[in-house]
Amino acid sequence: MTTSTRPKILISRAVFPQVVERLSQYFDVESNPGDELWSRAEVARRLQGKQGAFTTGSERIDAELLAACPDLKICANMAVGYNNFDLPAMTAAGVLATNAPGVLTETTADMGFALLMAAARRVSEGERFLRAGKWDRWAYDMLIGQDVHGSTLGILGMGRIGQAIARRGALGFGMKVIYHNRSRLPASDEAAVNARYVGKEELLQTADHVVLVLPYSAESHHSIGAFELALMKPTATLTNIARGGIVDDAALAQALRAGRIAAAGLDVFEGEPTVHPDLLACTNVVLTPHIGSATVPTRLAMASLAADNLIGYLVHGKPVTPLNPEVMGKA
Ligand code: DGY
Repeated sequence: MTTSTRPKILISRAVFPQVVERLSQYFDVESNPGDELWSRAEVARRLQGKQGAFTTGSERIDAELLAACPDLKICANMAVGYNNFDLPAMTAAGVLATNAPGVLTETTADMGFALLMAAARRVSEGERFLRAGKWDRWAYDMLIGQDVHGSTLGILGMGRIGQAIARRGALGFGMKVIYHNRSRLPASDEAAVNARYVGKEELLQTADHVVLVLPYSAESHHSIGAFELALMKPTATLTNIARGGIVDDAALAQALRAGRIAAAGLDVFEGEPTVHPDLLACTNVVLTPHIGSATVPTRLAMASLAADNLIGYLVHGKPVTPLNPEVMGKA
């Protein structure tokens, strides 16, 4: 392809240089190596005359932006979640949306388990206590927590990552697995992790450790609020590795402060990167900055899949993981 006929793409955030290099073999690339935080207007300005956008999940792609960027044909998210996409608006505008499923499943499940265990066993509290020089003797109840092995694991949202959490719980820690999901798993998948399908209220009342792995949507907004937290056991933990907004963070902070649940592990927040000040003030919550998929091989695989989608669609007409394949052929 000569330079003049090559499609043009925008990579809106800093990504692995080798991925930028690979994309540059196919496209005229405008990238953001300094990882500047561009405003929406700046993103729209830079998308002028561009057919592709490499997005990371933080750029809102909606009707307003699409109307301002008439040359755009594809937005490839380097994330499995795509709540930054207004999918109906993209479909109406004939713009293909792709995400990065599959490649981050196990890594994100690892992080879910890390948070669950850190919350149950008070790992962060223990470290802060030690670093503050407060450890001067043994005490029977010093940083006493909850068991993980043999307990009941409740998973809300049983897609790929939910099932990977279930495997860890059932096969690694001998946990009883209960789950709630929009649709029930095939019997063979349930049997593989000895999982039992239950209603949401039963799950919240029964589980010792609740893990949230459901996608964010208007329907799942504040799926866990004061009412749901009141159903949980006072000894239970809550882990959220899905999306901010699924939990009402103010209600969670209140429940943690009042001891209505024992502890929480959170990787995602409403309005992140800002974190609710009441959560920051709670000692019984482990907080991490949305790093569920953040390992070198997984982030590289996610970026490579986003690149595969751009190359697949703009060069060969065949994206790898399209979300709205109905736009293909209409462009
Ligand atoms: C995803 O892929 O949706 C993750 O949250 C991004 O790290």
